[in-house]
Amino acid sequence: MLTRPSLGFGLGLRVDHYEAVLADRPRVDWFEVLIENYLVPGGKPLNYLMRIRERYPLVMHGVSLSIGSTAPLDREYLRQVKALAARVEPEWVSDHLCWTGVAGRNTHDLLPLPYTEEALAHVVARVRAVQDALERRILLENVSSYVTFRDSPLTEWQFLAEIAARADCLILLDVNNIYVSAVNHEFDPLAYLAAIPPARVQQIHLAGHENHGDYLVDTHDHPVPDPVWQLYAHALRRCGPVSTMIERDDHIPPLAELCAELDQARALARATLAEAAA
Ligand SMILES: [Fe+2]
Repeated sequence: MLTRPSLGFGLGLRVDHYEAVLADRPRVDWFEVLIENYLVPGGKPLNYLMRIRERYPLVMHGVSLSIGSTAPLDREYLRQVKALAARVEPEWVSDHLCWTGVAGRNTHDLLPLPYTEEALAHVVARVRAVQDALERRILLENVSSYVTFRDSPLTEWQFLAEIAARADCLILLDVNNIYVSAVNHEFDPLAYLAAIPPARVQQIHLAGHENHGDYLVDTHDHPVPDPVWQLYAHALRRCGPVSTMIERDDHIPPLAELCAELDQARALARATLAEAAA
């Protein structure tokens, strides 16, 4: 078995909720923590993190790996991630299938890659190097995009599935990102899901976006909308029970509100999987 059994339903841990998580012990099965917030040893965030760690399983999620870049891998960053993982003992570690900069410049954006054989070989070699350095399989998350490359003969879903197979890594499937890109680039999100190897899907992200009519922006500042819930149900039918979480990065509501949204995910998953089993 490549993937771990589902951890249930989690949330992205946000600074605004530290106190409430510790005081209220919310009904959240696990939290995803942003690696870059905890790289300073001895800081206050790390102190909160270790207290929350005593109560909940954690998974680590990064934004700085820049696995698709042609810049050399940042070995110091990898060393820090490994040290944090040794401390936190997360269930797993993830980052994005993207590049964030080159030649010493960081755009702080998760930029898409050209889906070519050359890019594929490049990313596969780098994923293997990262997995060797961290001594664990990593999860790569599909990002949303607004532009595509002219020279991009493969589809995004072929590219993701091939990387996972050739690099022997796992997938963090962001259902909202699939939906956002499907609208922006006019592809069928179900064709995307149909190409994803269920055996490698370790985690699912749910989130909201901003609708601008003829394009969507992946803002993570709204509740999960209906089309994303529907696509999530399709993903569950294909993959079975998968650790699922809601990401909210802006307009962060009180924790109780996110817990209620998480209950919606629980109910939908229960009903969908029961129906699929029948
Ligand atoms: Fe995501």
